[in-house]
Amino acid sequence: MNRKVTVVGGAGNVGATVARAVAQKELADVVVVDIADTKAAGVALDIYQSCAIEGSAARVLGVGATDEGFAHTANSDVVVITSGMPRKPGMSRDDLLNVNYQIMQSVTAQVVKHSPNTIIVPVANPLDAMSQAVFRLSGFPRERVLGMAGVLDSARMRTFIAMELNVSVSDVTAFVLGGHGDTMVPLPRLSTVAGIPLTELVKMGKLSQARLDEICTRTANGGAEITKLVGTSAWYAPGASAGDMVEAILKDQKRIMPCSVFLQGEYGIHDLFVGVPVKVGARGVEEIVEVPLTEDEKAALHKSAGAVRERVDVIKV
Ligand code: 2OP
Repeated sequence: MNRKVTVVGGAGNVGATVARAVAQKELADVVVVDIADTKAAGVALDIYQSCAIEGSAARVLGVGATDEGFAHTANSDVVVITSGMPRKPGMSRDDLLNVNYQIMQSVTAQVVKHSPNTIIVPVANPLDAMSQAVFRLSGFPRERVLGMAGVLDSARMRTFIAMELNVSVSDVTAFVLGGHGDTMVPLPRLSTVAGIPLTELVKMGKLSQARLDEICTRTANGGAEITKLVGTSAWYAPGASAGDMVEAILKDQKRIMPCSVFLQGEYGIHDLFVGVPVKVGARGVEEIVEVPLTEDEKAALHKSAGAVRERVDVIKV
């Protein structure tokens, strides 16, 4: 194929799910890079073999995260970074921040060296701070670094609304702003079922305010809910979300997707990665969509941005 997507950390659950989505949809050839080099080779081979069944001509290669391995990623159209350590018992959030920041340093250097014109989709946590780190380390224009969080968070909210109202999730849209964490801001006023805002559905008596509040809280805690059930972080929905972003970029779809991007005054936020709706196309972030917010919504967004700022300040990026 004439397109190439690299997934760094691709032997992990999320990375492998992204790699598979890209290969299965025949969006590009895929390079799976991981410090676990034999696992990367095996995961890539497994995905490659699945393409034979699924009718995709994508080629999939797995390599170690060495100079030699990264050489295979040269001139990637999109690089998804899923590397990063999960928090271990006894580790503080700041410890995790520092460890993952170090990983971003080595990964970003390799990515920039081999694919200086690529578009990077960071997926590593804490998402907004890691996206900001990758942006600063890469020296890329802000259009070419877009973090995956809002697509996942809004998919979770859409699912909860569909479950609650017993309607097809295809008819549900959800609007989630802010950082990827428990301060994220689900906006019922701008979330709809077949075009009807959730706030109207409350007025119509189709949805109680109490249930709507529960859905918003459940959305904000969506990652923790899965972690508690499975014993580790989610991967199907995060992987599908990053795959959707890759597709929007490679097909120049001009989709409006919530992504973590570097704000420079938009929404009154300066020099910080925060989730907002953006137009995603071949150039990456093609437009930041500014939606007028109520005073309460603005306050919630700024509180969420404050939580991101605290993390960014720890690693000084
Ligand atoms: C999630 O929200 C861990 O960020 C990941 O599931």
